[in-house]
Amino acid sequence: MMYNAGVWVKAKAGRIVAHSSFYHLSDLEYVQIREPAEEEADMTKLWGGRFTKATNKLVEEYTASISFDQQLAEEDIEGSLAHVQMLGECGVIAPEEAEQIKQGLLKIKEKVEKGEIQFSVEHEDIHMNIEKLLIDEIGPVGGKLHTGRSRNDQVATDMHLYLRKKISFLIQLLEDIQQAIIKQADAHVETILPGYTHLQRAQPISFAHHLLAYFWMFERDKGRFKDSLKRVNLSPLGAGALAGTTFPIDRRRSAELLGFDDIYPNSLDAVSDRDFILEFLSNASVLMMHISRLSEELVIWSSQEFQFIELDDAFCTGSSIMPQKKNPDVPELLRAKTGRVYGHLIGLLTVLKGLPLAYNKDMQEDKEGMLDTVATLEGALQLLAPMLETMQVNTGKMRQAVQEDYSNATDIADYLVNKGLPFREAHAIIGQVVLYAIQHKKFLLDLSLDEYQRFSPLFAEDIYETLQPKQVVSARQSEGGTGFTQVKKQLELAKAVLGGKG
Ligand code: ARG
Repeated sequence: MMYNAGVWVKAKAGRIVAHSSFYHLSDLEYVQIREPAEEEADMTKLWGGRFTKATNKLVEEYTASISFDQQLAEEDIEGSLAHVQMLGECGVIAPEEAEQIKQGLLKIKEKVEKGEIQFSVEHEDIHMNIEKLLIDEIGPVGGKLHTGRSRNDQVATDMHLYLRKKISFLIQLLEDIQQAIIKQADAHVETILPGYTHLQRAQPISFAHHLLAYFWMFERDKGRFKDSLKRVNLSPLGAGALAGTTFPIDRRRSAELLGFDDIYPNSLDAVSDRDFILEFLSNASVLMMHISRLSEELVIWSSQEFQFIELDDAFCTGSSIMPQKKNPDVPELLRAKTGRVYGHLIGLLTVLKGLPLAYNKDMQEDKEGMLDTVATLEGALQLLAPMLETMQVNTGKMRQAVQEDYSNATDIADYLVNKGLPFREAHAIIGQVVLYAIQHKKFLLDLSLDEYQRFSPLFAEDIYETLQPKQVVSARQSEGGTGFTQVKKQLELAKAVLGGKG
């Protein structure tokens, strides 16, 4: 059955399906789908003039973005302040009017900051809420603010300002993490643990070296964010709805007032570009992937099986049933939150594909994912720095792990190579030595010289010194390797990069 909106109908609760101006209902109980009294135009809407009917309440709620875009209040006011100053300077409105609007906006800003403002769904989004508040505050002159702009360039401006601010903050938070990594690395240059490939013990390495690998990942993340600022810090303001404006505005002046580096050269592109948000979500995804990999290592290392580290009690939680447990909930959640950030990237890519120029309401869907990504990153980064800094490193367990494995096998091969044997031949011999050792339940340092010499006459007493884990690590002196002097150099480089705000 189909009923025209605006009547009381019998319907099965929870099974109302909106379809254009009609509802498909199945008949179980009566629900009211619209107040019948609202048949005439709702003149309280800023755009109410062209309409002969009030907005359906469900439509009003469905299309409103104020529940989330109120987070852009500060940027919206900032953008309006620049716009109105420019309008005044260009003579589009009188200087006194510009001043009145400015004072009104500043008053609203203060009220927003004090939490005194109740935004309303009726005014749909942050832009119209603030404009309405302005008109209520200073009277009809407030209606001049929107001269020469549209919500389309306004919302884009807000998002550019918001991301510029947030990206700079995220870069600072990344530096706190890098600082925490440097602190731990400084203390653990000579702490040796097994390095892994395929999660199989491969070669012993310095713990500082392992940690510093993450320093460079975060350094690249910062680089990507910084680079993106070139595209974030552009002004769409003054592009109007899509085609520019008939008023003699100065886009470069409002851009300058807002600290933008440049303006979009094309008004259509200015209002419909969301690449800068995609780029942010993409950079955020790579960053979350790094955080997730580090978190995974923290989870593994803090397990009973590894016991390489212990996370501070303040960063762990207990089990409601098993009293012995200390769960690494924080790194687990950091690992999991990667999913929602990837989701937001794919979500927005999908929203934008196939959209014709210029603005489409679809684009309102750019906000929640971006806001959630910012919140997710801020939460993650703020926890990661202190968690890394307070982490206890169990150097004894790490050393023990290295002593009880075959990760020094490559060094026997290198030993034979140094005595003149081609690497391939040496590799084959060591394969046999390792197999022999495993079969006899011995580690490589436990074999006698006699046993070694059964495999090659080139072995001599100095093989034991070569196989000491410390020697194995320090021997890797190639640039960027795990040898202690190289790690120290790397640490100095990391400090310099961070000191110079790299
Ligand atoms: N709330 C809208 C958004 O977030 C603002 C722009 C609306 N423009 C329009 N022509 N409907 O995208």
